[in-house]
Amino acid sequence: MTADTTDVTEEMETTIRIAVSLRWGDAFDADIARQIAEQVGADRSACLQGPSPAEKNSPLPAGGHVGFPSSEGNASDLTGTLDAVASTGARRIELVGWSAQDGPVPISWLRRVSGNWVRNHPDAAQVVVYAGTVRLGQEMDDDWRTVTGNEAPLRSVVWEEFPPFRHHLLVCRGPRCCAQGAVALHDVLHNKLVQADAIDTEVLVTVTGCMFPCNHAPLVVIWPDGKCLRLTEDNIDEIVRDLSAPQEASLTASMPPPTPDMR
Ligand code: FES
Repeated sequence: MTADTTDVTEEMETTIRIAVSLRWGDAFDADIARQIAEQVGADRSACLQGPSPAEKNSPLPAGGHVGFPSSEGNASDLTGTLDAVASTGARRIELVGWSAQDGPVPISWLRRVSGNWVRNHPDAAQVVVYAGTVRLGQEMDDDWRTVTGNEAPLRSVVWEEFPPFRHHLLVCRGPRCCAQGAVALHDVLHNKLVQADAIDTEVLVTVTGCMFPCNHAPLVVIWPDGKCLRLTEDNIDEIVRDLSAPQEASLTASMPPPTPDMR
């Protein structure tokens, strides 16, 4: 009886649950990240893709941790978080992928990335992944899958080259652009480019950190023209029309005037 109690206690102490945000936008909303972490009973949070916690003004709590001392490292990417958690002696690591956004989520990448980590750390902790994607307010069942290291790799022949895009659209997710609507506007822009069937064919969209002309936030830059634009609800349709137009068309969208208040 005593031995059983000890086993249970040890297991509880060496099991760490990590809430992993699956989409870019998820990682930027610290309130929702905290709510989800509490909802799923996570000890710690991590991003499959998202902001750098090292960035001073990141809206994420330092290191993306939930109730974890910051001295244990401040990486919030999944691989860095697995390294940090394993170094604490955790014997079982539970990954719960979540998203607060509608639409498809890269849940398969949670298994690929953790599978890659397991391949590189065969004697470290047992890693399990919750089978579904958790949404805000949704209860979890008990469907966990063990990560074996036999998951699909991080490389594939189809990822050898750039897609044949004509415009490279850089969307700033730096702190000043995020504070002025970059996340929501990027979502709208992305959805409209998808509707125009322009993503990866006409336009490759890349999210960046600060590109410096922050007074024009939220900022996008379009290459090869090098055109710098402030993204607004009013010019998104024009940008999408320009980017998905026939090759001979030139970009007509122009930078809206700067806001008079430059504080
Ligand atoms: S934060 Fe976007 S350009 Fe600086």
